[in-house]
Amino acid sequence: MRKKIVAANWKMNKTLQEAQALVKTILSGSGSNNEVTKIIIPPALFITELARLTKENPSFSIGAQNCYYAESGAFTGELSASAIASCGAKYLIIGHSERRQYFNETADQLKLKINLALKHKLIPIYCVGEKLNERQTNHYFTAVKNQIQEVLFHLPATDIEKIIIAYEPIWAIGTSLTATPEQAQEMHSFIRFAIMENYGADVSKKINILYGGSCNAKNAKELFACADVDGGLIGGASLVADEFLQIINSF
Ligand code: 13P
Repeated sequence: MRKKIVAANWKMNKTLQEAQALVKTILSGSGSNNEVTKIIIPPALFITELARLTKENPSFSIGAQNCYYAESGAFTGELSASAIASCGAKYLIIGHSERRQYFNETADQLKLKINLALKHKLIPIYCVGEKLNERQTNHYFTAVKNQIQEVLFHLPATDIEKIIIAYEPIWAIGTSLTATPEQAQEMHSFIRFAIMENYGADVSKKINILYGGSCNAKNAKELFACADVDGGLIGGASLVADEFLQIINSF
């Protein structure tokens, strides 16, 4: 049985006070639902405080949205994987499409980030997903396979097992255009098959694959019901406590 996971990618939203209030409401609202792993991924400044607030509840963890691809050094304004881990984060998003698009992150850089995350015992949440034109021209399988191959397939099986893959079709992010359950399942099973081809069936069955892209309280249930969808990476809907709590209860 794979874990059920709901991760909240807050992106560049919330002040410290708003972040504290939102996490407190989510903590009290989630009651005894310990079956679902909840990962809150705030702006990195808030990691220490949110790790403190959630430390009594083992079903909650904190993550970061990005790190730099060097271990440490003279890179003003950047954050290292080791610094992120030392503040109490357990997860690290790598390769989000917004970072690939606005910050020109390359596959080589992402590979280095994956290695650094694993070195510092952070679980990578590696994001993949096709652009609208790749979907429309039926190149979406190739696009996603390339993203996985280029950045993950240098890893040994013992490391690949630890990684969470998030399938986030770019045309669905922040657009209200959610992938249908059929589209999500088709891609998730394709991703699992690609892992199987390289690492065997046992490893492929263990990997958690999350769906992201306009996932909300209304559509989460049918998406999470798909055989290869193990949960969601939620953007906009994770900023509102009620909405996020409903998503957590959608398995
Ligand atoms: P939305 O849920 O706002 O579409 O964002 C998804 C996302 O990018 C999560 O990483």
